[in-house]
Amino acid sequence: MKEWTKQHILGIKDLSRDEIELVLSQAQAFKEISQREVKKVPALRGKTVLNLFFENSTRTRTSFELAAKRLSADVINFSSSTSSLSKGESAVDTVKTLNAYHPDIMVVRSVSSACLYDFDKYTQASIVNAGDGQNEHPTQALLDMFTVKEIKGTLEGLNVLIVGDIRHSRVARSNIFAFHKFSSQTTVCAPPTFIPYEFDKLGGVEVSYDLDEVIGKADVIIMLRIQQERQNSSFFPTIREYVDKFALTGARLAKIKKDCIVLHPGPVNWDVEISSAIKDKVHPLILKQVENGLAIRMACLYLVGTNKR
Ligand code: NCD
Repeated sequence: MKEWTKQHILGIKDLSRDEIELVLSQAQAFKEISQREVKKVPALRGKTVLNLFFENSTRTRTSFELAAKRLSADVINFSSSTSSLSKGESAVDTVKTLNAYHPDIMVVRSVSSACLYDFDKYTQASIVNAGDGQNEHPTQALLDMFTVKEIKGTLEGLNVLIVGDIRHSRVARSNIFAFHKFSSQTTVCAPPTFIPYEFDKLGGVEVSYDLDEVIGKADVIIMLRIQQERQNSSFFPTIREYVDKFALTGARLAKIKKDCIVLHPGPVNWDVEISSAIKDKVHPLILKQVENGLAIRMACLYLVGTNKR
């Protein structure tokens, strides 16, 4: 297997298939650490990880923090709601200020990708993208792939169905790029207003407006939340209509292939994208994704943090 040479992890688009496989196998090796009595290894001892979150997060922020700690790094957590951003300090000044602590890795969740790519000018640290606006969320796609591989034993030749607010979803974009690299077919399914025109050109992507027509062919279904915070106009008539056509319900679950798996990046809006009546059936795997997210983030921090570039 090839050696890791990248300084940053900015998007799945920039990663080769070999590099994705390297992250997945490193995560596999790290997963076991979380089952030990002493859940810590010295892999990043003496390194400093700065978690810079300009947008809200539960899973991604806590898992990056825990990942850094499990690898024995020193961790600084910044979140915009509790910082001097609320006193008017700009994002760039915040990066410059925190860079004065000489971090080795900056994990950044930003409101736009322009912002994320700009930060590189102000730091020598490796940057790991924890979600840049509507663009990419590479570690989410990596943990989704890890989970799929763990259950299905392969990432190749699968039919991956992504349902919901594709337009505003960085998770959809990163997963489309990721599965395409493994020759898996992606279908996006949503109301037309939730599917951007450029998706026809992404390669390997089919578009459907009818969930009942495509659900039975899927090997993997990724359900997505409606990103209310990223839209200032209504993209569908009513929630009721959306639920009727695009929610995963008991009736639709009965139509999926026997070995099809259902994923969701969280947070789930129960009774919008997934009916709460089937929570017992789908929640365990969604929580497994959270568990796998820790191993993936340990792998990402370790690979960029120990890379001898
Ligand atoms: C996703 C995100 O932030 O893009 N969540 C996550 O990272 N677990 C998806 C979402 O917020 O709906």
